[in-house]
Amino acid sequence: MIKVITYGTFDLFHEGHYNILKRAKENGDYLIVGVTSENYDKMRGKLNVKQSLFERIENVKRSGFADEIIVEEYMGQKIEDIKKYHIDRFIIGSDWRGKFDYLNEFCEVIYLERTKGVSSTQLRNKERGIIKLGCVGAGRIATRMCLESRYVSGINFDYVYGRDEEKIKKFAEDNDLKYYSTNFDEFLKEVDAVYIATPHLTHYEFVKKSLENKKHVLCEKPMVLKKEMVKELYDIASKNNVVLYEAIKTAYVPGFIRMIALAKSGIIGEIKDVDATFTKLISDISLREFDKNQAGGSVTELATYPLLAIIKLLGVNYKDIDYYSYYGDKDVDLYTKIILKYDNAIASAQVGIGVKREGELIISGTKGYILVPAPWWKTEYFEVRFENANENEKYFYKFEGDGLRYELSDFLNSIVNKTDNIYLKQEEIESITSIIERLYYKGDN
Ligand code: CTP
Repeated sequence: MIKVITYGTFDLFHEGHYNILKRAKENGDYLIVGVTSENYDKMRGKLNVKQSLFERIENVKRSGFADEIIVEEYMGQKIEDIKKYHIDRFIIGSDWRGKFDYLNEFCEVIYLERTKGVSSTQLRNKERGIIKLGCVGAGRIATRMCLESRYVSGINFDYVYGRDEEKIKKFAEDNDLKYYSTNFDEFLKEVDAVYIATPHLTHYEFVKKSLENKKHVLCEKPMVLKKEMVKELYDIASKNNVVLYEAIKTAYVPGFIRMIALAKSGIIGEIKDVDATFTKLISDISLREFDKNQAGGSVTELATYPLLAIIKLLGVNYKDIDYYSYYGDKDVDLYTKIILKYDNAIASAQVGIGVKREGELIISGTKGYILVPAPWWKTEYFEVRFENANENEKYFYKFEGDGLRYELSDFLNSIVNKTDNIYLKQEEIESITSIIERLYYKGDN
């Protein structure tokens, strides 16, 4: 008996899928089909898959060609499967030609001609249309988002708005954008969604106006510096039936999501302490980061990431909070330690633009601890450690490019599927914002 295996996502099942499964089956006596899990697709950078794993398995089942269906969950699984199921032939479409030659060591590898003119990507785009995304601001982060958007299908990043015509014209040219405008109303008319990447204190007006004009908004962190403003903006978003996302990149990174889930699973016992650090030394003191009137300082600049980790792990109901800052001769904090007291745990966040410290995250529990080394906010690797070092485990995840593609892809999914942000809730954003607000507006009326 000749056993054949093939793999795929099989999203929105189409003729190309039917043809490859049919021919794969004809190439042997028994066909096993591996369908990718949601997490595996996300990890390998295949974002925006429309159907659930269950629906995609049903698609393959309905074709009638599969004798057995398995789930593909991790990198390197193909070799394991080939050995485990005693596979004779590995079959895949010609778009993968050459990529699986390494499996020749274990079985015969056959690339079959791909059916022309159809793909899941094409169908997804047709079904939901392309979202037109415009960007407000033309700085470094906007450039990075523009590059990252190329990895997210279903979105066209074509438009930039800014006040400085020279600057946005150059930005549009450098990044191959079709349009630029210095008129915000005109810009809003041309887009479905807005990415806001301007200095902190300008966010509020841009977000508000965009939402009122029924545009979906992805706003750089910190979105605003007052909890009341977060509430108000979410109310406007909900009234206008549009999506509002704060671009806290780490919240959408697959490795971080996995790490949080693992920490909360009880693997290290009860979580008693979270210690998260993020520092970024800035030497040019003429920059906005050192200007209190432009929301400069370590906490406004950097605290979002450490606070995200703390809130995700211990929740929003802390009982007490303390700030210890070093100001030097400036009127912004150059280094701050924030201590949060919970009923059964403690947390500390360290941030600095004028003091350097190891950027790690340590989650301590009653049975062990999790160490996420720097840069933990781009979670790719972490270790779970115990008293008995033989039990320690290392975890690796893929972190593609700059990581902005994950938040962009989740933002797009929320728009298309009309779903809430499951990775970052309004109450979590409110909580993080209020912690920043308390230090920034301390002493002000
Ligand atoms: N396939 C094919 N002909 C097509 C599309 C896919 O032969 N027109 C094959 C692929 O080569 C692969 C299998 O079908 O062997 C599953 O591919 P999958 O990635 O699920 O399909 P795509 O349509 O290529 O999906 P996407 O656009 O999301 O990449």
